[in-house]
Amino acid sequence: MPAEFKMEAVELVTISDIQPREENYLALERGNILYFPRTPFAFPEEERELLRSTGLSSSSHHKNIAYRPAEDKVTGFDPAAVSDPEKLRDVMRTYSERALAFLWKLLPRYMETARIDFASFRPQEEEGRDLATKKRNDLLHVDAFPTRPTGGDMILRFFTNIHQTKPRVWTTSDPFSVLAPRYASAAGLGEVASHPKGSLGARVLGAFGGVDAKRSAYDRFMLGFHDYLKFNGEYQESCAKYRFEFPPDSTWMVFTDVVPHSVLSGRYALEQTVIVRRDTLARRENAPIEILQGLCGRQLA
Ligand code: SIN
Ligand code: FE
Repeated sequence: MPAEFKMEAVELVTISDIQPREENYLALERGNILYFPRTPFAFPEEERELLRSTGLSSSSHHKNIAYRPAEDKVTGFDPAAVSDPEKLRDVMRTYSERALAFLWKLLPRYMETARIDFASFRPQEEEGRDLATKKRNDLLHVDAFPTRPTGGDMILRFFTNIHQTKPRVWTTSDPFSVLAPRYASAAGLGEVASHPKGSLGARVLGAFGGVDAKRSAYDRFMLGFHDYLKFNGEYQESCAKYRFEFPPDSTWMVFTDVVPHSVLSGRYALEQTVIVRRDTLARRENAPIEILQGLCGRQLA
C-alpha cells in the first residue's frame, strides 16, 4: 500500500484544562476531535430551556437557527412560537461570546487572526430528517460554505449538546490527508486546477457581483467535493467509520473541512464557527489547500 494511503483513525482527545497547549493544536490539525465531557463555561439551565422551546421556521430554506455575531441578528426561527425574539437573541449572543472567549483561552494563536463566522442552534431531531441529498447531514462530507468562501483558510466548529438526556451521535471518517489522495482526482481536482479563474459562465456572473467573483479555485473544488462525497455511494459504504456519542452537556470541536463527518441522531445542539487562517497552523501542510496543491501541482488560491 502506498504510504499516502495509510489509515488514520479520528480520535477523541479528552481535555480537562484550558491552557493553550501545542498538543491541542496538533491534535485538531491532524483531524482529531477535542472533547470536553462537561461544557467548560457557565450555561444556565433557563438559557438552555429557552433554546429547547424554540422551533425552526417552517420555510424550507432554513436548516438551522443562525446567529450572525457581526450583525447581532438571529434568523431561521419560527416567529409564531417565540414570544420574545430579543431574549432569544440575547441567549444566542451569550453562547457565541462564551464559546469565543473559551476558544481564545484554548487556541489563542488561531484566534488572533481568525474570522468570526456564524453560530447556530439545531432544534430538529437529526434522525430521519427529510432533506435533499446535498443538504443531508447524515451522509459523510467535509464542510464548504456556498456563501462564505474561505480562500484556503479552515473551518473550525465548536459544538455543545444541550439535550437533557440524548447524546448527539456522529460518524466520522479518515481525515483529508487520507481522503484527498483517494478521491480528489475523481471529484474534479484536475479540472478546477486547470481553470484557476473558473468557467467563463462563472466569470461573467462574477462580474455582476455574484459570489463566484470571490471564489478561489480551492473554494470551487471544496464545494464540489462536499456534494461529490454525499452522492458517492461507494465512498459512503466502504470508507472507514468511527462512531462518537457526545453526551448531554458535552462540548467538542473539530476542523470540519479536514474531518469527514455525519450526524446520525440527536437534537438541540449549539455551534460556533471560526475561520482559522492557515498561516497560523502549527503545521501548515495539514491544511486541505496544501494537500490539494501537492496533489495537483498548482496554486489554488
Ligand atoms: C454537520 O456539520 O454536518 C452537522 C453536525 C451537527 O449538527 O452535529
Ligand atoms: Fe458538516
